[in-house]
Amino acid sequence: MAETEAELRAQMVAVARRMNASGINQGTSGNLSARLPEGFLITPTSLPYERMEPTDLVALDLDGQPLPGASGALRRPSSEWRLHADVLRQRPEVQAVVHCHSIRATALACHSRCIPSFHYMVAVAGGPDIRCAPYALFGTPELSRLALAALHGRLACLLAHHGQVALGRSLDQALRIAIELETLAAMYLEACRLGEPPLLGDAEIERVLRQMGALLYGG
Ligand code: 13P
Repeated sequence: MAETEAELRAQMVAVARRMNASGINQGTSGNLSARLPEGFLITPTSLPYERMEPTDLVALDLDGQPLPGASGALRRPSSEWRLHADVLRQRPEVQAVVHCHSIRATALACHSRCIPSFHYMVAVAGGPDIRCAPYALFGTPELSRLALAALHGRLACLLAHHGQVALGRSLDQALRIAIELETLAAMYLEACRLGEPPLLGDAEIERVLRQMGALLYGG
């Protein structure tokens, strides 16, 4: 757990690089944020992660205004700052947000398909499915509104014709969930080659959620 803003900045750059190294993102698409006491830190727009330094991260309040006295360079924040801000405002338990365009999750999202309970690991996102928010232009309040509805009671969702969003109590957890979502999307696409797979029922997903809670699974 980062204790200071400087530690959080260093952690965010490391997690951003891990995101690209994991294969769930490429180039400068995708962005990350982490909560600060007065707002949040977010990756700057269009800066390759391998060139990104901790001082390049942008500190904003939840209305998107630069935090007074924030350390760091005066980079422009990610074009998705509003999505991050709106998630952090509406979900007080969330400390970090990862957004990326992972290939298989995005492929499903391009068909506006949710990921149903074909596999028990769907429950890592908090319920019996991972929803897909309808399409809206990136960076808009409409995208935030639709994403927040799809994220209700969940730690991840798909964004139609766009990508995915994952939330966590830490940057590490948000990245783990984003990677898990991509893995589930790959498994689901593969399973669908033999036809739509049978699903686990809501009662079984409830048992899975209890088991995950008891084992502190994915924490
Ligand atoms: P930024 O470089 O502005 O963060 O945008 C990338 C992206 O993924 C937009 O959805």
